Amino acid sequence: MPGNDVILVVDNVHATYNHAITALHGVSFELRRGEILALLGANGAGKSTTLKAVSNLLPAERGQTNSGTIRYEGADVSRRKPGDLVRAGLVQVLEGRHCFKSLTVEENLISGGIGRSGRRAEINQDLQRIYDFFPRLAEKRRTLSGLTSGGEQQMTAIGRALMSRPCLLVLDEPSMGLAPLVVQDIFLALKKLNRETGLSILVAEQNSAVALKYADHATVLENGVSVLSGPAAELRQREDVRAFYLGQQASPLLSLLTFMPSPNNSEGAMK
Ligand SMILES: Nc1ncnc2c1ncn2[C@@H]1O[C@H](COP(=O)(O)OP(=O)(O)O)[C@@H](O)[C@H]1O
Ligand SMILES: [Mg+2]
Repeated sequence: MPGNDVILVVDNVHATYNHAITALHGVSFELRRGEILALLGANGAGKSTTLKAVSNLLPAERGQTNSGTIRYEGADVSRRKPGDLVRAGLVQVLEGRHCFKSLTVEENLISGGIGRSGRRAEINQDLQRIYDFFPRLAEKRRTLSGLTSGGEQQMTAIGRALMSRPCLLVLDEPSMGLAPLVVQDIFLALKKLNRETGLSILVAEQNSAVALKYADHATVLENGVSVLSGPAAELRQREDVRAFYLGQQASPLLSLLTFMPSPNNSEGAMK
């Protein structure tokens, strides 16, 4: 049994859509309390499916976890409704920075606190905290979200999730479609939140460079299987991780070398 220092355990999870399409066949990792874990992998590797399984959202997409277990704070997530998981502090920002385009930034944020039945004074306090982490949102609080930039919409989606006072924040590709400087801003804010409040973060990313820069640990998915896990600092050093699993070839020579069988080419050594 994992100790109290582990907030999320994903153990050998297999998942399908429509009882037919296998999306995951053996995904395992652990997220320690207060850490940032990056879930890396190319397009179609199974990142979003894994995150949806964590929040028990697969049934809503005709998907299901067929075997394996996911435990949040020691309890099996498959037995709990997604809304109950949110109230228990497991909050997800889905891919595509969803916010209500015809509401202002502040109205979007407040909508995230409603399920919590917070008092107005509490909500104002939470808003202030979010504006401290994302000063851009304070500037845009009265602007319709539909008129803000992609980066501001992503910040709004994250801010709305923070209004539920998460213990574990789950993010699906927050960097997608955003300029590099904006991506840095977002990850810096996430790191600050993690450091200052102890928030645990699970973040799926194709952008391994930025994710490995800010994460404590990382797990790499390939074709629905977790093939490698280790400290982010170690994975950052390994060019073969990028070339092999993430489709980002470091250099033509290096990628040639990684395809040559050699005793040094010990994939999965950090497992
Ligand atoms: N709603 C769905 N219905 C059927 N197949 C899906 C659905 N969502 C994802 N898949 C399939 O599951 C696999 C993993 O996809 P996904 O988890 O979205 O990967 P990633 O987020 O890493 O790009 C892919 O083969 C994809 O086509
Ligand atoms: Mg995805």
